[in-house]
Amino acid sequence: MAKTAITSSATQSFSPLTPDPFIIRRVIKETYDTISLELESFNRTDFVFFPGQFNMLYVFGTGEVPISISGDSNNTKKLIHTTRAVGTVTKAMWNLKKGDCIGIRGPYGTAWPIQAGKSRDILIITGGIGLAPLRPVLYHILHNRADYGKVVILYGARTPEDILYKKEIEKWRSRFDIEIYITVDRATGNWHGNIGVITSMIGRAPFDPLNCTAMVCGPEIMMRFTILELQKRGVSDENIFISMERNMKCGIGLCGHCQLGTSFVCKDGPVYNYTQMKDIFLKREM
Ligand SMILES: Cc1cc2nc3c(=O)[nH]c(=O)nc-3n(C[C@H](O)[C@H](O)[C@H](O)COP(=O)(O)OP(=O)(O)OC[C@H]3O[C@@H](n4cnc5c(N)ncnc54)[C@H](O)[C@@H]3O)c2cc1C
Ligand code: FES
Repeated sequence: MAKTAITSSATQSFSPLTPDPFIIRRVIKETYDTISLELESFNRTDFVFFPGQFNMLYVFGTGEVPISISGDSNNTKKLIHTTRAVGTVTKAMWNLKKGDCIGIRGPYGTAWPIQAGKSRDILIITGGIGLAPLRPVLYHILHNRADYGKVVILYGARTPEDILYKKEIEKWRSRFDIEIYITVDRATGNWHGNIGVITSMIGRAPFDPLNCTAMVCGPEIMMRFTILELQKRGVSDENIFISMERNMKCGIGLCGHCQLGTSFVCKDGPVYNYTQMKDIFLKREM
């Protein structure tokens, strides 16, 4: 199976340093601090990307940040990004409205191994906003369900109010060909589901450790403990994929801002096979 994911060069047709204007067609409030923006290009007829890739989003007059694409790669007319408001640019994004314009550069980076995962069980393990870069994988699998074995999603959120895409999750839950397990760190309201860390669900999740591809995205500490649990279940390092985050400026491997060891996360990542990150990842401080 291929260890590295697809790179972006094949899909990148516009000048890599010039933001391309997109119009906001819809703003969806996902949670109290997270929105999804549905965007349409002024210039491009199609926006082609692979699940796991990201764009640089430019809020005019404020700044530019990397954000994963969270929509369906089958729909090349509608680009979707899900953003949590944490700082200057993402808070400015929160204030954008339908009809406003935003700049886009991309798509950039590597993709989740949706081809290499064919005929295998797929295990998606994600925490918080980490579900956004993995949602395109789910869309792809649902469009091509017969190509994959069991599909198991383990999703952890801080509280029930932090759970993304609630209506969609309910739809996925009602299917018989996907298993979704959700846990929260802290129960609020009338939550009757699991409480506790996501790693506690890995031991009893129904997948074949010898024939599965695990895709993991979340805070680094969560990914580290998740990998340990996967290894305990017998999943080999070659079958574990993770998505890394680093501060970015250029997004195309020129400035060195996102350097992690010998790798540039914008170009060589964000999706890595765990074997590529193992040495760096096991260090306490990164
Ligand atoms: C490849 C890639 C894909 C990404 N995809 C997404 C995505 O799909 N959705 C999304 O919401 N974010 C995503 N991010 C993270 C996003 O890029 C950052 O949250 C954003 O750059 C913050 O910029 P800012 O100007 O809003 O905050 P800044 O002004 O730069 O930061 C302000 C404060 O927020 C803190 N902060 C910054 N980033 C985060 C964070 N991620 N979590 C918590 N605190 C933070 C900083 O430490 C600082 O204290 C991705 C990052 C990368 C590298
Ligand atoms: S952001 Fe410039 S090299 Fe990665």
